[in-house]
Amino acid sequence: MPDDRSKRLGEIKRFNKKMYKALAKERKRRISPAEYAVRMRDPDNVLEIDNLHTWFYTDIGAVRAVDGASIAIKRGKTVGIVGESGCGKSVMSLSILRLLQEPQGQIVKGAIRFNPGENRRAVDLVKLPQQKMDDIRGVDITMIFQEPMTTLNPVFSIGKQLGEVLACHNAQRLSTKAIAARCVETLKLVGIADAEGVYRMYPHELSGGMRQRVVIAMALMCSPRLIIADEPTTALDVTIQAQILDLLRALKDRVSASIMLITHDLGVVAETADYVVVMYAGRIVEQGGVQEIFHNPRHPYTIGLMRSRPSNETGGRLYSIPGNVPNPIELPDCCFFRSRCGKSVKACGGAYPPVISLSDTHKAACWLCAFEREQAIMGEP
Ligand SMILES: Nc1ncnc2c1ncn2[C@@H]1O[C@H](COP(=O)(O)OP(=O)(O)OP(=O)(O)O)[C@@H](O)[C@H]1O
Ligand code: SF4
Ligand SMILES: [Mg+2]
Repeated sequence: MPDDRSKRLGEIKRFNKKMYKALAKERKRRISPAEYAVRMRDPDNVLEIDNLHTWFYTDIGAVRAVDGASIAIKRGKTVGIVGESGCGKSVMSLSILRLLQEPQGQIVKGAIRFNPGENRRAVDLVKLPQQKMDDIRGVDITMIFQEPMTTLNPVFSIGKQLGEVLACHNAQRLSTKAIAARCVETLKLVGIADAEGVYRMYPHELSGGMRQRVVIAMALMCSPRLIIADEPTTALDVTIQAQILDLLRALKDRVSASIMLITHDLGVVAETADYVVVMYAGRIVEQGGVQEIFHNPRHPYTIGLMRSRPSNETGGRLYSIPGNVPNPIELPDCCFFRSRCGKSVKACGGAYPPVISLSDTHKAACWLCAFEREQAIMGEP
């Protein structure tokens, strides 16, 4: 007789199998342009993520990696995404590019509206047919991963790998010579002095910092509208990190792209981003301008993150937020931060807190903010 646990696991497996089958069928369906053509909420936004839910259907249950995230990225701005390990930062970025590990990883709900500019129609990336997605990925939206050595192929020269990006999306029908010239020009743009020499080299001949510059050049080859940088400096030493961040800052203005910068490092965000999004357990708990988040954090989780930063005033041990992130398979019905929150009140055990607008750009999802606003309204004559 199977015990309750193995019976439950059997049910999960059967459910997953049925769903993968339905997904495979859905993928074969012809999708008309009317289904994915959308209107941006604000035409100045390059990307609008709306109530995104990305789950992984594993053999032990559904991992709710992203569970109702909504953010917007303005044209030419850098948005820093912060939050502790496992809170869904990478899964959210992989959802934008539809690079999830399928069939387990699926966008179950929500929209990702992308504005390609130049009089092209905005599209919902969640509904876009695969072939159209291939035209956007690596061209309009590009990604810089953490480890340059795994991004670059060790058996091809830098020139070949850079040229291939352009050749694959060669809308301008450039000749081989013109592609090579463009590669050298882009290598110069990312601060590589001996661009012609590096063009002929292989990845193992370059230092970590140079390789990351090449990866950034690869991301810039097709003049993207949005660059997603997932921990772009974590694999580099501190001096090179600073150089790469300076490069990203300088490039943003020169290539007029928006940047979504994912990092654990609050110092990097403070120096680089215009806007900050704080994620916790798959949800956005607070977002706002850099000044608002760093000088007036309102969500207890953000306040904890800010306190855990090393600073000149902090003596002795650094502060760390007590407790752990909840299991993404069994998230509570109330505020996800409740078990770790030192400010929790009775209402926190009820429904998930609403998102409260604290200014035009500053928002937080916390009952305390909701009560403060209510009191402010009641206090008004
Ligand atoms: N392929 C997968 N299958 C199952 N669960 C996954 C898969 N990929 C990610 N997850 C889960 O999704 C959640 C979010 O992961 P994600 O990689 O987005 O975190 P992160 O915020 O980028 O963390 P880090 O800062 O460590 O990079 C985690 O609980 C992770 O275990
Ligand atoms: S809603 Fe309550 S438990 Fe959640 S962060 Fe705010 S005060 Fe803490
Ligand atoms: Mg990650």
